[in-house]
Amino acid sequence: MSTKVETKVISREDLKKRVGYKAVDDYVHSGMVVGLGTGSTAYYAIERLGQKLREGELHNVVGIPTSTKTELQSKSLNIPLTTLDTHPVVEVAIDGADEVDEKLNLVKGRGGSLLREKLIETEAKKLVIIVDDSKLVQNLGMTGAVPVEVIPFCWKHTMRRLLQLESLAECNVSATIRSEKDSIYVTDNNNYIVDLFVERPIPDISLAGRQISDVVGVVEHGIFLNMADVCLVSGTEGIRVIE
Ligand code: 5RP
Repeated sequence: MSTKVETKVISREDLKKRVGYKAVDDYVHSGMVVGLGTGSTAYYAIERLGQKLREGELHNVVGIPTSTKTELQSKSLNIPLTTLDTHPVVEVAIDGADEVDEKLNLVKGRGGSLLREKLIETEAKKLVIIVDDSKLVQNLGMTGAVPVEVIPFCWKHTMRRLLQLESLAECNVSATIRSEKDSIYVTDNNNYIVDLFVERPIPDISLAGRQISDVVGVVEHGIFLNMADVCLVSGTEGIRVIE
């Protein structure tokens, strides 16, 4: 006689949905101004927010979208929207991340929205990061690009300058201009994105962030240090809260 053990397979999409819904359930209350993140995980938080507003479980919530994509999704769900110009105090912001380290420092922007994300999330009293467990890392910048938003004017020169940074000298750094359908990818702010790739860990991530910002032509980068207050990590065992 054989015993069948049933294991339920949870898809990555399910993990994202669970964590997106939980962030709204636990951190968004009526009357709040909420920063609305961008990406495939933040998508579910916005979906949940729309649902709760529609069903009357939440009221008087206004959202500040971090991208045109998020703005469109929010509008399709009738979520009232505002901007930092009129609502400079953001009670909570919910967003995904590309990488999260043990101190809750982040790499963001592989989805292209890092500038508006940083602008809005810097103002959040509480920044809630929602990820599945594949995003947890020891060293930032090793699983993919560190995105840098640059102005289009002389972007090749700016990219060369980025490759010369002392703080990245030991990392065997390379760079590409982000493209989409055979053209250069253009951000919501009409800028380009230089994706930096390192083969060895960045020795001082804070210094790297400062040096990247100091390059003329750089608008913002995707290294988000000391910004996240809490991270909800979705895995097959459930959702873990890291604070
Ligand atoms: C967009 C971002 C996203 O938050 C990040 O790319 C994570 O996205 P996803 O939840 O789809 O993995 O920074 O600029």
